[in-house]
Amino acid sequence: MENELLNSGNANQRIKEEMKTLSDQINFHNYQYYILDNPTISDYDFDLLLEKLIALEKQYPELILPDSPTHRVGGTVTKNFKTVKHRYPMLSLGNTYSTQELTEFDTRIHSLVHEPVEYVCELKYDGVAISLLYENGLLVQALTRGDGLQGDDVTANVKTIKSIPLKLQGQYPSRFEVRGEIILSHQQFETLNREREEIGEAAFANPRNAASGSLKLQESTEVAKRGLDSRLYFLIGENLPSQHHYDRLQLLAKWGFRPLDVISKASSIQEVFAFIKEWDIKRKSLPFDIDGIVIKVNSLTQQQQIGFTAKNPRWAIAYKFKAERVSTQLLSVDFQVGRTGIVTPVANLHPVQLSGTVVKRATLNNYDFIETYDIHQNDFLFVEKGGEIIPKIVGVDLEKRETGSPKIGFITQCPQCGTDLVKNEGEAGIYCPNELHCPPQIKGKLEHFISRKAMNIDSLGEGKVEMLFEKGLVKNIADFYSLHYNNLLGLEKTISGEEGKPDRIISFKEKTVDNILAGLKASLKVPFERVLFALGIRFVGETTAKKLARHFANIEALSNATIEELMQVEDIGERVASSIVNYFIQPENLEIILKLRNAGVQFQISENISQGENKLNGKTFVVSGIFSIPRDVMKQKIEYYGGKNSTSISKNTDFLLAGENMGPEKLKKAEKLVIPIISEHQFYAMIGEA
Ligand code: IVH
Repeated sequence: MENELLNSGNANQRIKEEMKTLSDQINFHNYQYYILDNPTISDYDFDLLLEKLIALEKQYPELILPDSPTHRVGGTVTKNFKTVKHRYPMLSLGNTYSTQELTEFDTRIHSLVHEPVEYVCELKYDGVAISLLYENGLLVQALTRGDGLQGDDVTANVKTIKSIPLKLQGQYPSRFEVRGEIILSHQQFETLNREREEIGEAAFANPRNAASGSLKLQESTEVAKRGLDSRLYFLIGENLPSQHHYDRLQLLAKWGFRPLDVISKASSIQEVFAFIKEWDIKRKSLPFDIDGIVIKVNSLTQQQQIGFTAKNPRWAIAYKFKAERVSTQLLSVDFQVGRTGIVTPVANLHPVQLSGTVVKRATLNNYDFIETYDIHQNDFLFVEKGGEIIPKIVGVDLEKRETGSPKIGFITQCPQCGTDLVKNEGEAGIYCPNELHCPPQIKGKLEHFISRKAMNIDSLGEGKVEMLFEKGLVKNIADFYSLHYNNLLGLEKTISGEEGKPDRIISFKEKTVDNILAGLKASLKVPFERVLFALGIRFVGETTAKKLARHFANIEALSNATIEELMQVEDIGERVASSIVNYFIQPENLEIILKLRNAGVQFQISENISQGENKLNGKTFVVSGIFSIPRDVMKQKIEYYGGKNSTSISKNTDFLLAGENMGPEKLKKAEKLVIPIISEHQFYAMIGEA
């Protein structure tokens, strides 16, 4: 008995050590990738390490390390964020837009410190303020600012942000807090909004709102997908090393935090002005938003001498960039109808130059926006472009309003199909409820259905779908599967080129028709969860579709579910549940589903990949070069047929799938290791799609 205990103790110890080694390796590679931008391992090998650790943690959950990198992929669900008191209040900074006030700040500093003063200039990141507590080198708590005295505990969500170390390196203090911003890049912001618009969710107005919304998501797995980033610029605690802010920032980098993009010392206010001037230009090409420059006194001894006002430190100030603003006349308003029926008013403006581009159009967002700003015909509107990329309307120049000019009325009927528009209580927008017959909504649904994340029928692009719709061949998503060779061959459409570009002719020759039919046939293998997403049910995005598919397993069970039953599914609230119920009570939708099912589309989950779909049987592929389809789609195909992808060639590679212009190094290595090199055509033959 004793021996057994001893043995299990030993085994536990071994597993613990293995978990630690794996954690350390993964943390090291994360640091190389996200902080130093210098990966030293292939994505595939990295995933292998992570998978190994995940498997061990599943088996021995009691041994999970607090700095385990698996926290990065999330998995925690927070229903209510706990409110926690800040150990040190989270102060804000005094703001100014004027260089005159900066000079006054400098004068004030010199009246309090009678020795040379050095400033540190930093970018003012336009994100969400965060305070991170580290104890013995481990991230133990992340709090939002809240009201400055207490904030929300968002630790699980913050742990998914790759640039925030879970475990520190080097000689760090045993306990301290580090403060900074959680930001979202322009690129991640645009991707996120595109995805939201796809499913009828309101877009975020700017990256800051998107970052803030993401931090408050209940599921950390979802946060992990948002691509949040961080910049940390302030250290606080007791007995901390160094008496200079600049040096502390260098220490942060040594401990594993992402270094700030720029930090500059200035020995006079003139040098501060030069820094501001430089970054007022350079900020336009940064991949994220900044809204100003922060100026801090470098010496901590001097900071203490200078002290605080009631609200802010007196030793620092934020200089905010003025957003460029012009006033221009409103010529007319267009009302656009989107895929989910939401009507968006768009202002046509008298063309005007603003921060380097000519602005002719700007969104008026929604019904509430027009009401709130009380916009009248021919009004002069203020248009602004700040850190953001997109110009926005920020007000009405009332002095220039023509007397008697009428208010802009919001249309009451859909400009596309004439149906009476609907405004739901508590929603800012107005929408056309005729989702089954309103042309832009049908077209949007068709385009969504074939899109990559849905049925992935890439042989049918937007232009082709539009033509099929206009010619009356496809009126709903089920009609795609009634297309046949004879009604497609010879179809033609001229698309007039925009702004001086030549016209484009779409014409269906034999090869095009073959590709379309092959694409439709291949889509019959798309799994149920993606089919569910492809149906285009309002508010059912990729993740929701996955959860629904797993929960209900087939379309019958889902279509019969009540609102209450739907709300049993993790993360599904009343709004989504009633949208699903509403979809399934419409006979037209049921008819579409029936037709799709008869065509062979998947309407139930497949537990095990069937024989036919497991043709690649665990074989490892390296895909390189250019193919007739995007490379990531090729990789999806490999996985779909039961194969694996790897980025680098090793003795474990089974096939090198070679496209055009593939890297000569890969070719050489494959030849050396005698790995079969196959063409795209040979690959299709392997999976039976040739
Ligand atoms: S220092 C006690 N540095 O801007 C000093 N703040 O308008 C703490 N911010 O509250 C703040 N970039 O949320 C500092 N480089 C930077 C910053 C920065 C953005 C935010 C921060 C602050 C607000 C002031």
